[in-house]
Amino acid sequence: MPGKLLVFEGVEGCGKSTQLQILGAALQQSSGLQQLQRRGLIPQILATREPGGTELGLGLRQLLLGDRGGAAMASRAELLLYAADRAQHVEEVIRPALAAGSWVLCDRYIDSTVAYQGYGRGLELALIEQLNQVATGGLLPDLTLWLRLDAEVGLARTRQRGSADRMEQADLAFHQRVQGGFEALAQQHPERIVAIDATKDIDTVAREIFAVVEGYLQPWYAPSLTA
Ligand code: TMP
Repeated sequence: MPGKLLVFEGVEGCGKSTQLQILGAALQQSSGLQQLQRRGLIPQILATREPGGTELGLGLRQLLLGDRGGAAMASRAELLLYAADRAQHVEEVIRPALAAGSWVLCDRYIDSTVAYQGYGRGLELALIEQLNQVATGGLLPDLTLWLRLDAEVGLARTRQRGSADRMEQADLAFHQRVQGGFEALAQQHPERIVAIDATKDIDTVAREIFAVVEGYLQPWYAPSLTA
């Protein structure tokens, strides 16, 4: 049985990377999942991210987010670099893991490109959809956990953490457009995007995410769970 692709999305500072780690650890303890693992159905839970989930991707991440000494990056160049990172990631990491039956927990995926390069930078959404299609070969997430948070609150959280990367340095209006992009995507794809209230404290958010994910075990693996 092929695995599942679970993606975490949201604006800067929404807490998705922390929550991804917490969910990964919690799933290992989950009785529903252990039952499946005993039947050899979910060999592994793999945490990964975009950009930077491969060796090539780490170099691209450095290009995309590192300090460029103020040198500009054209929006289309930025778009293509994110697409290149994704193409490599899907081929080298995500598809093989899914084929082995694993659960892939991925920090950002196609919706980030729509939100950041589409809504944020203002590039054509149709072009982005085409590129996402090329990069992924049409591989969609089974579930997208969208950590919903006001862009201003999220940015304040990241600035408390210290130095901001190239994307975080963009102005508030940019990040508000990104937030609007995620709102629009959630409305367009209710079948795979679940909104999580990320204003709450870490433990509360983690419990909510776990409950959502456990709710999917039954429909995804019903025959195997009752067998
Ligand atoms: P993060 O790993 O800390 O979330 O940083 C990744 C940054 O890259 C974040 O600012 C969002 C941005 N990004 C895009 O602009 N487009 C994309 O397609 C992806 C995957 C990330």
